[in-house]
Amino acid sequence: MKPYLSVRVWQKKINFFNIENANLDNSTVASFGNEWEAFSDFEDEEINFIAKDYFDIVNDEDVENKIVLDAGCGSGRWTKYIVNKAKHVELVDPSEAIFVAAKLLKKFSNVSISHASIDQLPFKDEHFDFIMSLGVIHHIPNMELALKHLTSKLKKDGKILLYIYYNLENRSIIYKAIFTISSVFRFLISKLPFTPKKIICEIIALIIYYPLSKFSKLILKLGFKNISKKIPLEYYKDKSIMIMRNDALDRFGTPLEQRFSKKYIEEILKKNNYKDITFSKHKPYYHLIATKR
Ligand SMILES: C[S@@+](CC[C@H](N)C(=O)[O-])C[C@H]1O[C@@H](n2cnc3c(N)ncnc32)[C@H](O)[C@@H]1O
Repeated sequence: MKPYLSVRVWQKKINFFNIENANLDNSTVASFGNEWEAFSDFEDEEINFIAKDYFDIVNDEDVENKIVLDAGCGSGRWTKYIVNKAKHVELVDPSEAIFVAAKLLKKFSNVSISHASIDQLPFKDEHFDFIMSLGVIHHIPNMELALKHLTSKLKKDGKILLYIYYNLENRSIIYKAIFTISSVFRFLISKLPFTPKKIICEIIALIIYYPLSKFSKLILKLGFKNISKKIPLEYYKDKSIMIMRNDALDRFGTPLEQRFSKKYIEEILKKNNYKDITFSKHKPYYHLIATKR
């Protein structure tokens, strides 16, 4: 597949491919472009700290000297985390986030960036040793088809690392009720133009994310570990306000999100010929790694 355009940004060549009818939600992709432009200044320390939550199930040898695909790369923060170990990383995203990724990764020569969709990936089949797609395929209209296309680009015995939103199946009725209410707000907020959307999400981060996360930290300090874990937004207890602002915009600003059960995720991975499917026991739910047969 040939790019229809190539541009040089931050000393990086970005190839543009057709993304029409490529199994993506245009308003969601546009919203992510704005989001990553707003949240682009990731310090290495911050990236390394959060990355531990997602890469807890990844071994060094999974990425060391490997050809890697970062599918739905956003700002490119996870590539930055592994870039020194990998042989080469291809980053793909159909949003304007690719410009943010180009800036974040400007000093690395072993990365290439494409403006493309998971459903029209400009690489030959079985090209990659390791594919990571973190927080992406639940934002794609046909998630199963997206997984099929990703799988076709992975070598036999290659590994895939995914983070897919869970359907809260392990949560209490109260937690689910709070979540349902928040989804109504998301439905409304995600339809707003970017500036009011961002302002509202900043307020949500400040008056909901921050106090709840600090409250769960306090409960933990008082010795009630199990209660602390059940408090909504407990995940943010040790995260910076910047991450809370970024994630509030991600959660409330994104028009399309879908949620899946563990059983369903396992089923579609098996259908796509994966073995050794390992879900992390830790948040964020669900992130998992699997090997292609
Ligand atoms: C929540 S962000 C995650 C970004 C990055 N993986 C991270 O965790 O920082 C989701 C990303 O998926 C991208 N995306 C949406 N639809 C896509 C598609 N069809 N193909 C590839 N990426 C897509 C969005 O543009 C966005 O940057």
